Formats: sequence, C-alpha cells, structure tokens
Amino acid sequence: MMFLITGGCGFLGFSVTQRLVAQKRGRVTVFDNLSRIGTRENLTVLEKNDLIDFVPGDVRDRDLVETVIERIRPDVIYHLAGQVAMTTSLGQPRFDFEVNVLGTINVLEAVRRQSPHSIIVYSSSNKVYGDLDYLRYTELETRYRLDDFPKGLNESTRLDFTTPYGCSKGAADRYVSDYARMFDIRTVVLRHSSIYGVNQRSTVDQGWVGWFLSEMLSAQNEEEGKTIAVAGDGKQVRDLLFCTDAAELYSRIPDYIDSASGMAFNVGGGVRNAMSILELVRFAENKLGTQVKLQHNPRRRSDQKVFISDNSLASKVFEWQPTVSFEAGILQTVEWLKDGSARSHN
Ligand SMILES: NC(=O)c1ccc[n+]([C@@H]2O[C@H](COP(=O)([O-])OP(=O)(O)OC[C@H]3O[C@@H](n4cnc5c(N)ncnc54)[C@H](O)[C@@H]3O)[C@@H](O)[C@H]2O)c1
Repeated sequence: MMFLITGGCGFLGFSVTQRLVAQKRGRVTVFDNLSRIGTRENLTVLEKNDLIDFVPGDVRDRDLVETVIERIRPDVIYHLAGQVAMTTSLGQPRFDFEVNVLGTINVLEAVRRQSPHSIIVYSSSNKVYGDLDYLRYTELETRYRLDDFPKGLNESTRLDFTTPYGCSKGAADRYVSDYARMFDIRTVVLRHSSIYGVNQRSTVDQGWVGWFLSEMLSAQNEEEGKTIAVAGDGKQVRDLLFCTDAAELYSRIPDYIDSASGMAFNVGGGVRNAMSILELVRFAENKLGTQVKLQHNPRRRSDQKVFISDNSLASKVFEWQPTVSFEAGILQTVEWLKDGSARSHN
C-alpha cells in the first residue's frame, strides 16, 4: 500500500510512520515543512528506512499538495500537519486558519480531483466541543469531576467551536466528514485530547505532559527548589493517550474503513488514564524524588475543566483500546526526556 502522511515528521506523524513500516504495511511518503522543533531530528531517523520517502512542503501550497497526491495516488492519507497550539491561534488567527482550514481543503480537493480512491484520516481535537462550561462539575482536592458523564464525553457532545484553533480544527473536521457525504471520499475524523509520549517536543503552549515532566526533570538540578508556572488551579483534567496506542489506531483504520467512513470518533486514554496537572506533578514528584513549587497564573481562556473521551464508539468500530497505562507511559516519557536534548522548548 501507499501511504502519505502530512506532518509526518511531527510527534504523532513520526509515531504513525514508524508503526506502518514496522508492520510492513507499505511505502510511506512523509510530507512536512519541518516548522516544528525536533522535526529535523525525526526526519534523520525516518530517512534511514528504505520504505520512507520525504517530500518537503507546506500544506498551504495547493499546487504542490495536488502534484504530490496526483503522483503518489496514496491508498491512505493521514492528514496530521497543522497549527497545533491554541495560544498561537489567538495571536495569529489568519495563519491558524490558513494552515488548518485551507491546508485541509487543499488535501481534500487534491483527493477529489486526482485520487478519489484515497482514504483520508484527519486528526481533529476535543476543542471542537468548546469550553464545556455548561456542564456540571464538582471541585475535588486535586481535580474537577464531570458529574453527569462518568464514562467521559462521546461524539453526541454539542459542537461549539471556540478560539481560532477550535474554529479551524472544527471547520476542517466538518469538511473532512462532508467530503464523505458529498463526494463519496472515504474519510475518518479522530478527535484527540492529549496524546503524549516518546519523541514529543513539548512547548509551554502544546504538549502539557511533556512540558511539566521536562520542567520537573530540570528541577532536579536546582538547589533552591524550582517554581513551575501553572495556568489556573491545576485541577483541569485530560485523559492521556500514549503515542504508540494512537499509532496503532491510525494503522488499523484502513482495515475498518467500510464501517467507519464519514464518521468522527472521540479518541483518548479514557477514564482510567485521566489526570489533572496537580496529579501529574504529584505523580512525578514521587517517581523523581523532586519537590517543586507551583505558581498559579490566571486560567487560560477557553480551557476545559475536564475532557475525558468516551472511547466506546472507536473501541467498537476499530476493535481498539488504549493499552499503555498512564503510569507506564509517563515513566517511558521520563526516560526519553532524561536525554536533555529532547526536553521541552519555550
Ligand atoms: N498531540 C496532541 O495531543 C493532539 C491533540 C489534538 C489534536 N492533535 C492534532 O494532531 C496533529 C498532529 O499533532 P502533533 O502533536 O503530532 O503535532 P506536531 O506539531 O508535532 O506535528 C505537526 C507536524 O506538522 C508540520 N506542519 C506544521 N505546519 C505545516 C504546514 N503548513 N505544512 C506542512 N507541515 C506542517 C510540523 O512541522 C509537524 O511536523 C495536529 O493536527 C494536531 O492538531 C494533536
């Protein structure tokens, strides 16, 4: 099979690419503009594999996207390239729109015109559900609890695009599903909350698990005791999905496309792997034997108090479950981060 992965040198794309070649599923073309920190290092690893080709390029370049798709005529396209930070989208809404919405339209149109047999899988976001401020929460000692949804939130949760990032991911998410309805292109949308793990180059703006773990590792070298900034009270909860579990799901979607086309799925670590920032910090303090102080800054705009995916639909359709517990995943991530060059960047 022929695969095309936009954003293939990024965190998720790298993991999916490695999974596909490890499973000997076919040739993978990785398309990336290498704008994200760490992507050149990832490319160096990928280029060692004969089954992987690299095309430098930007998804905003409509002609290039069309040329590449016309040439490769991929069986499957994983469209993962994106502007990934909510904070960046607030500062540069047009840029965010161009990458996330126009970039996606470029992929969809190229497929419609040149390669209508291609399956398209799109990585969307829990931000399509908005702030979720209308739900009922209880404040506990270390986290918020979503009172009426003990299994997490499923796909019937009301769409409510907020922040430019939420709007651009949401628009792309809906366009991708609509191309299945209007043009019979086989598409799948996955709505993610927090994917984390090995090879994630976290920043203060994106990849919060890696960011806090990096900060805590660097605290080990500081005699005075380190203070780490937290946006809000730190009780906000996300369900953590380890990168290899995410990659496994992506790799199996083509096998299940007849039951999945046109649909969107919430995909996360689920209730078992849900954690607040305070809980992550406490867990890491215990494991690393380091104490840190937290400085609480104002809550970020539009920060959901709780997002936990109810994975029921994805589990049923793809016969998939997360297999890596947060305990195991965090420890693997810490080991990787111990190589200081992999640590987070401002
Ligand atoms: N990691 C998560 O927790 C998470 C959560 C929700 C959604 N997602 C979505 O999953 C996708 C992948 O996320 P990630 O965590 O791997 O992020 P990432 O930043 O590591 O990867 C994105 C990749 O896209 C590339 N890219 C960015 N702009 C591009 C452009 N204009 N043209 C071509 N390439 C471009 C970057 O260089 C990078 O390699 C994104 O669309 C993101 O919105 C991720």
